[in-house]
Amino acid sequence: MNLTVAITGASGAVFGREMLRALEADARVERVYFVASENALRVVAEELGVSGRNDLLAKLLGAEPVKTVQLSENDIGAAIASGSHPSGGMIVLPCSMGTLAAIANGLADGLIARAADVTLKERRPLILCVRETPFNRIHLRNMTLAAEAGAVIFPCIPAFYYKPADSTEMARQFVDRVLGHIGLAQPGAYVWKGEE
Ligand SMILES: Cc1cc2nc3c(=O)[nH]c(=O)nc-3n(C[C@H](O)[C@H](O)[C@H](O)COP(=O)(O)O)c2cc1C
Repeated sequence: MNLTVAITGASGAVFGREMLRALEADARVERVYFVASENALRVVAEELGVSGRNDLLAKLLGAEPVKTVQLSENDIGAAIASGSHPSGGMIVLPCSMGTLAAIANGLADGLIARAADVTLKERRPLILCVRETPFNRIHLRNMTLAAEAGAVIFPCIPAFYYKPADSTEMARQFVDRVLGHIGLAQPGAYVWKGEE
């Protein structure tokens, strides 16, 4: 399976980092195409203390990437910009309201919005992990538009019943939920057992 992961300028860079780490470690995934928006770099620097576009992947992964390749947001001719390129889907994590608006309205003006547009037209899974609070009506309308076009609105709202020890564990469990949703159930994922 090939997957595309985009990180945009919403808060929650730790979620994106944990997603990249999980996919690098998942033997079922052959190739991960990674795109960071210009504004994501600002938030990644702010929240994770990782700065610059050079070696961004290695810095986020904590090791040289094996299967993940970084593409430029300006590279509108990249493979993932075409529906003819096979893909198992796309995850935008975190997804800003700006990128949500671009996707919901079919702007396709940069690689992230174009790859999302392609994912929708090819009827492949598009997971938008939106992050903002509170939502205004424009955000709510755009989420509805995107959902009606086939996207899954998967807000960055972690659960707390598994008592995460820190923000990394919280993000990892959220990532497990996203990957479980697209058929990549993770071995260490928390499963609620109810009253057995
Ligand atoms: C530290 C920081 C946190 C931000 N958090 C959010 C957020 O949670 N949600 C959001 O929609 N925008 C947030 N923004 C604003 C976006 O970065 C901004 O709207 C940007 O234009 C989004 O661009 P992009 O979608 O191309 O990444 C944040 C900006 C900064 C600097």
